[in-house]
Amino acid sequence: MTAAGVTVVDHPVAQHKLTLLRRAATPPSLFRRTLRELGALLAYEALRDLPVAAVRIETPVAEMDASEIAQGTLAVVSILRAGNGLADGVSDLLPDAPVGHIGLRRDEATLKPERYYLNLPRGIGRARVLLVDPMLATGGSAADAIDQLRAAGVREIRFVCVLAAPEGLAHMAERHPDVPVVTAAIDSRLNEVGYIVPGLGDAGDRLYGTV
Ligand code: URA
Repeated sequence: MTAAGVTVVDHPVAQHKLTLLRRAATPPSLFRRTLRELGALLAYEALRDLPVAAVRIETPVAEMDASEIAQGTLAVVSILRAGNGLADGVSDLLPDAPVGHIGLRRDEATLKPERYYLNLPRGIGRARVLLVDPMLATGGSAADAIDQLRAAGVREIRFVCVLAAPEGLAHMAERHPDVPVVTAAIDSRLNEVGYIVPGLGDAGDRLYGTV
């Protein structure tokens, strides 16, 4: 299987929003709104090659052949809890796409993911899945979530995050080389407690004001 690759969304609007998220002084209200907006921008890029179906429509002026995303083509899956901040932005963009949830908590001693929740939309095996989590740190949670999606029959998955650490990208390339990663930036490293450096801190805590 060939490596699917990493896309860094370097659009100025995405980078401006990323800076807001990184700034320690950004309050949870602005962090939440900005994460949502960035989620929409990243999803837009991640879905660039989504197939469309032809549909005959009438404009106020004439009939024409137009394009649409067919129902059931796409599903969003959020890795709890910070993934919800991004998933809300994807839902703004594509309100008809069903949203599933995968609960994984990080064991702070081993930094390995522990499963605690799984709820996937019916028929997800037929959909392309946009898996979202703001931080690709060790890559353990993303890889485990993909294992669960594969077990549910999903064939095509794209992973969307705000920040990726080189360690997480290496882990993904090893465990799931066929899953493309779309991110706003690749940071320099993980620190000794598994945080991305320079990063933005704990995305879930900043999203929900639980710092
Ligand atoms: N999860 C976070 O929320 N932040 C990090 O830096 C790493 C993992």
